[in-house]
Amino acid sequence: MSRRIAILGSTGSVGRNALRVIDALNSSLVARDSSLDVSKAGYEVYALSAHSNVELLAEQVRRYNPKFVAVTDADCAGKFVALVGGPGLELLAGPLGLVQIAELDGIDTILMAVVGAAGLPAVLAAVRCGKRVAIANKEPLVIAGELVTKEAKESGAELLPVDSEHSAIFQALQAGRADEVERIVLTTSGGPFRGASAEDIQRVTLAEALLHPVWDMGPKITIDSATMMNKALEVIEARWLFDMPTGKIGVLVHPESIVHSLVEFVDGSVIAQLGRPDMCLPIQYALTYPKRVRGISEHLKLEEIGTLTFEKPDLEVFRALSLGFEVAQTGGTAAAVFNGANEAAVEQFLAGKIRFASIVELIERCLSKHNVKRDVSLDELLEADAWARNEVVECLKQKAY
Ligand SMILES: NC(=O)c1ccc[n+]([C@@H]2O[C@H](COP(=O)([O-])OP(=O)(O)OC[C@H]3O[C@@H](n4cnc5c(N)ncnc54)[C@H](OP(=O)(O)O)[C@@H]3O)[C@@H](O)[C@H]2O)c1
Repeated sequence: MSRRIAILGSTGSVGRNALRVIDALNSSLVARDSSLDVSKAGYEVYALSAHSNVELLAEQVRRYNPKFVAVTDADCAGKFVALVGGPGLELLAGPLGLVQIAELDGIDTILMAVVGAAGLPAVLAAVRCGKRVAIANKEPLVIAGELVTKEAKESGAELLPVDSEHSAIFQALQAGRADEVERIVLTTSGGPFRGASAEDIQRVTLAEALLHPVWDMGPKITIDSATMMNKALEVIEARWLFDMPTGKIGVLVHPESIVHSLVEFVDGSVIAQLGRPDMCLPIQYALTYPKRVRGISEHLKLEEIGTLTFEKPDLEVFRALSLGFEVAQTGGTAAAVFNGANEAAVEQFLAGKIRFASIVELIERCLSKHNVKRDVSLDELLEADAWARNEVVECLKQKAY
């Protein structure tokens, strides 16, 4: 039987890598048994989605022949039809298309590779249907991690991390029992501004912030890595994915990005997962879990790397990270505001409308004005998210950032 995969956000960096992984998995199946029909025994690309990059989506559709496609920017759906059209393909236009795909029967794994809070309704829908969700899209877990993980427990849905750090922790946790874990440590390359002073951060340009020293990723997460907001979001993601109190989560700067994260157990043993900085590895593990198979990721040669270094993060210069720990501890609507303000501020920065340092200033301002609510519903979380986005716009009307 083939395994049916839906990739939401297939035109993005994670989505494109996932398709490369699937190609490699199917080719290696055929290499082992040339009589094999991949459409019956391999990984079938059953559904894909893009927001507005319909040219690339059309190419993917021609190549993978999925049954369902979502174009979440409804204005681009007509252009997509003109590019592809034809029978045998169901097109879902608008944001609800992601939810419709998430609810389809017969999908084995949904890979959530959409960027931002836009993925939340589909993550919740997939979880409520008890699906296996390979999750790269961290923002839904940041906003509504408590709700998503509670619903997953109730429905029996599996949440398999794709973020390299969380995949590493997921793998390392298999070395012991939950009550034997002392703490988990997320590693970070430190981003392009590792070692920078607060004054240096004030002068950062858009081009500099988009140049990540190690990882090749989409623009939003690249900026998040530069502010260290990405690590802050990952602390909150880890808090929910692994049901780990904030006090048991640490962060270490590791510029080589070889140790993807680690778990310290009560006896003092530290179990880490190592590999080249290549998203294909965690994506593949989430698709083949619990099996491990040969893939396209180049194997690690530690003798060539020689030295691995670690240092403490600078929480004064990278204020986003210390805010992330505070928000993870606070809970309730705080993380929805934290994430919503960041998404809105990063959008402004990418559009050249605010300075780099203003991203965190705006987030901090929103957090200081927000009255945190606890024991909240999804609607209240979405309200907090919308409030934060609007507050960023209001702040920009009052003062130049
Ligand atoms: N890139 C990495 O290596 C990496 C590593 C770990 C975790 N992640 C996480 O994975 C997620 C995706 O990251 P990425 O770097 O792959 O992002 P990306 O390259 O920007 O791709 C984002 C994908 O989401 C789609 N999209 C954009 N806006 C959307 C909307 N409003 N509604 C629905 N779909 C939308 C995009 O479609 P269009 O192409 O049509 O715009 C694209 O397919 C993020 O949450 C990120 O934090 C990424």
